[in-house]
Amino acid sequence: MTLGPPRVVSIEDLRRLARRRLPRAVFDYIDGAAEREVTLRENRRVFEDVTFRPRQAVAVAPCDLSATVLGTPVSLPVLLAPVGSSRLFYPRAEEAAAHVAGAAGTIYILSTLSGCRLEDVRRATSGTAWYQLYLVGGREAALAGIARARAAGYAALVVTLDTPVAGLRERDVRNGVKEVLSGGLAGLPFLPQFLAKPRWLFDFLRDGGLMRFPNVIIPGQGALAYLDVEAALQETTVTWQDLGWIREAWGGPILVKGVLTAGDARRAMAEGVDGIIVSNHGGRQLDTVSPTLRALPEVVAAAGTRVTVLMDGGIRTGSDVVKALCLGAKAVLVGRAYAYGLGAAGEAGVGRAVDILRRDMVRTMKLLGCASVKDLNRSYVDVPAQWAGATQASPLRGGQDDLSDVLA
Ligand SMILES: Cc1cc2nc3c(=O)[nH]c(=O)nc-3n(C[C@H](O)[C@H](O)[C@H](O)COP(=O)(O)O)c2cc1C
Repeated sequence: MTLGPPRVVSIEDLRRLARRRLPRAVFDYIDGAAEREVTLRENRRVFEDVTFRPRQAVAVAPCDLSATVLGTPVSLPVLLAPVGSSRLFYPRAEEAAAHVAGAAGTIYILSTLSGCRLEDVRRATSGTAWYQLYLVGGREAALAGIARARAAGYAALVVTLDTPVAGLRERDVRNGVKEVLSGGLAGLPFLPQFLAKPRWLFDFLRDGGLMRFPNVIIPGQGALAYLDVEAALQETTVTWQDLGWIREAWGGPILVKGVLTAGDARRAMAEGVDGIIVSNHGGRQLDTVSPTLRALPEVVAAAGTRVTVLMDGGIRTGSDVVKALCLGAKAVLVGRAYAYGLGAAGEAGVGRAVDILRRDMVRTMKLLGCASVKDLNRSYVDVPAQWAGATQASPLRGGQDDLSDVLA
C-alpha cells in the first residue's frame, strides 16, 4: 500500500490514518496503555520539561546521525522496538518493519509474540536484528526460541523484565478482546467493529486470519494461542536468577528492558548484561511509574560507561530523540511511532515514520548548532533541577561501583 506524499508530516498524522483503517480494538491495542494511562501521557509530556540551549551561528552540514550500538554501526540512532502481534495491524507486518529498519540502517527488535516466524523476519532485513525474549510457555519453549534466534542470526537478546503479569489495559477489556479471541457467542456483540473496517478485514483474512505465535512452541501443545498469552505471562516471571541460564543458552550480548531506577541498573550490571533499556513498556504495565525521560539521567549516572544505555517511551518526534541522546541514551527505541505507520499503510507507513524522525532530527540538530549525534550532551538542554541525576556534576547515587546493596 502506498501513502500519498502530502499531508503525512508527523507521527500524529500516521496515528490518525491508523485509527481510520484499523478496527477500534486493534487501534486501541496500539494506542492504549495500563489503567488510567497516566504514564502513557507523562511519557509524552515530560519532553516539554526539557528545553533546548541552542548554539547559534554554527554551520552544520551535513548532519551526522550515525552511532554505534553494542558494536553495530547504525545510520540512525532510532531502533524499532519489539511490538507484539504486529501482524494484526498489517499482513506480514513484522517482516515489513524489519525490512524498513534494514534499509534505513537501523536495528529491528522482534518480539517473542510475533505473528511471523523469526527466521522469516531475519531474512526480511538486510541489517541487524535483535530478538526480544519473554518466557511465555515456560523454560523449554524459551530455550527452543533462543536456539532458533541464534541459528537465524539475531545479534543480541533483549530480555523484558517488566511483565510479571499483563498490565490492565482497560480499553482492551471494553473492546471485548478476550471474548472475541475466545471465538464463542460472547464475542458476537463485539464483531461489528471489525466488520466496519472491510479493508483491514480483507487484508487480515488474506494474511491467514488469527494465527498462533509461531516462535513459542510449547512442548506437547504446539504454538501458543493468542487467548493464552495473559495466563502464560503470569506463569513465567523473569527473575535476575534466570539471566544465568538465559546467558548460557544464548552465548551473545544481552540487554534488559524495563529498568527505571539506579538500583535495578546496578543489579543488571552485576548480572553481567551488556545493555540496559530504560523503559516502562510505553505505559502499558505499571501505571504511574516514572516517565522514562525522567528516569534516564538516574540510570545513566548509575551505569556510567560500563554498559550501553538505551531508552524508549513517548518518542514521536526527532527532537524527542535528540533530547534523549542529550540526557545520555546511546540510542532510542520507538514502538507506537512505527506501529501507527504499520496500521496506516504497512511497510510504506513504517518507512514514512522513520523518514519523519530522521528529517526531524536533522532539522533539530541544525537549529541546535550540533553537527553530530556523538557531540550531543547535557550542555544542549536545560533539565529541571529536581530530577535525580540531572546535573552533570551530581555524585553517583550509591557510587558507580558500589554493588553492595544489590549483591547483599
Ligand atoms: C502494541 C504494542 C505491543 C508491544 N509489545 C511488546 C512486546 O511484545 N515486548 C516488549 O518487550 N515490549 C512490547 N511493547 C513495548 C515497546 O517495546 C516499547 O517499550 C514501547 O512501545 C515504547 O513506548 P512508545 O510506544 O511510546 O514508543 C509493546 C508496545 C506496543 C505499543
